[in-house]
Amino acid sequence: MLLFTGKCMAAVCTITILLHFLENYGMMKEIDMLEQIIQPLLTWYDTNHRTLPWRETKDPYHIWISEIMLQQTRVEAVRPYFERFIEALPTIHDLAICQEERLLKLWEGLGYYNRVRNMQKAAVQIEKQYGGKLPADFEQLRSLKGIGDYTAGAIASIAFELPVPAVDGNVMRIWSRLVCCEEDILKDKVRKEAFRQLKEIMPAGRSGDLNQAFMDLGSMICLPKGASRCEDCPLRFACQAAGQGLVDILPVRKKAKERRLEKRTILVVRDGDKVALHKRNDNGLLAGLYELPGLEDYYDEKEILTYLKQRHLMPLFIEKLEDAKHVFSHVEWHMQGFLIRVASLENMPTDDWIFADAKTAMQEYPLPAAFRAYASYVNIQLGAFRKTEM
Ligand code: ADE
Repeated sequence: MLLFTGKCMAAVCTITILLHFLENYGMMKEIDMLEQIIQPLLTWYDTNHRTLPWRETKDPYHIWISEIMLQQTRVEAVRPYFERFIEALPTIHDLAICQEERLLKLWEGLGYYNRVRNMQKAAVQIEKQYGGKLPADFEQLRSLKGIGDYTAGAIASIAFELPVPAVDGNVMRIWSRLVCCEEDILKDKVRKEAFRQLKEIMPAGRSGDLNQAFMDLGSMICLPKGASRCEDCPLRFACQAAGQGLVDILPVRKKAKERRLEKRTILVVRDGDKVALHKRNDNGLLAGLYELPGLEDYYDEKEILTYLKQRHLMPLFIEKLEDAKHVFSHVEWHMQGFLIRVASLENMPTDDWIFADAKTAMQEYPLPAAFRAYASYVNIQLGAFRKTEM
C-alpha cells in the first residue's frame, strides 16, 4: 500500500513538472516568435506611420494629453481638441490652476469629463511631488490620478524611451492573433500575460515607435473581425491566427453587459434673451456639468406645460423638436426634445436652474455632447416657431 501511494505521488510530481515545462516551453516559443516581428513591424512603421501632431514632439505633457484624448474618440476627431488644449494650457502648471469651467469647456464634446478632472488632479500632484515635470518612471506615472497601465506605458515609452508596452484594445487584438490566444482578452490575467510578453521584446531606443507601430497596425491593417487586411500585413509570416484561419474568430471577448435604456424629456426653455440650464450633481454621469433641464421618462406637451406652471413659469408656446439618442458606456438616453417659450425666466423662484444669456450660453457653459441635437435651439430666433394652444 505504501509502495502504491509512493508511486502515485511520483507520477503526480512528474506530470506537474511536465505540464510546467510545456507551459514554459509554449511561452518561450511565443517570445521567440514575438522577437521576430520587431524589425518588420518597425520597418513597416517607418514608411507607413500616420503623421499626427502629437508625434512631432517628445514633450511628455503633450503625449499625456494626446493619450487621454485618444481614449475618448477617433484620431481624426482628437486633432483639433489637442491643438486647442495645448494652446490654451501650454504647461502642466496652466492645467493645474485652470478654472474648472474653462477646463470642461476645452473638453466639451469629448465625453468622460472625469478624465480631464483627473488630469487636473494629477497636474497638481506633479507640481507637488515631481517639481512640475512628469516623472520618467512607469510606476510613478502609474501612481498619478487617472493614469493606468496603458497611459503610463504610452508616456514612458513615447516620451522617455523606457522599455514598457502600452497595451490597449488594439494591441490585445494584434497580440491575441499573433500568439493565437483563445482566452477572453478582457480577463486581467490575459492582459497581464500580453504585457509580460511584450515587455520582454521592447527594443532599446525604439520602444515608443514599437508601441505606436502596434497602434497604427491596429487601426490600418489588423482590424476587428471581418475587416482585417491580412494580405497587407507585415506580420503575416509570424501570425498564428492567420496560419490557422482564425483571424475572424479572434480575439475572444466576453459579451459586454447590455446597456440600460433611459427615456428622457429635454427642455429648451427660453424667454426673450435667456435660456434655462441646470447644473448636474457632483457625482455620477456627467457629474457637475451644465445641461438642458430634463425629466426622466417621456411627457406630452400638456404635461410639460403643467410641470412648467408648477415651477411658476408662464409658457407662451411649445414646439416638439426632433428625437435624439446618446450612447454612454453603460446607459443610452433616448430623448424627446421640446422648445418652450416662457414670458420671463427671471421671475421663477429656483435654486437648481440658472438663466444664461442665450447668445453666449454655448461659449460660457460646457454642454455635454449628449445634448448636441438640441444645442442649436439654445440661441435660435424664437419667432420662427408655431404657437401651440395653451
Ligand atoms: N491611439 C492611442 N494612442 C495613439 C497614438 N499615440 N498614435 C495614434 N493612435 C493612438
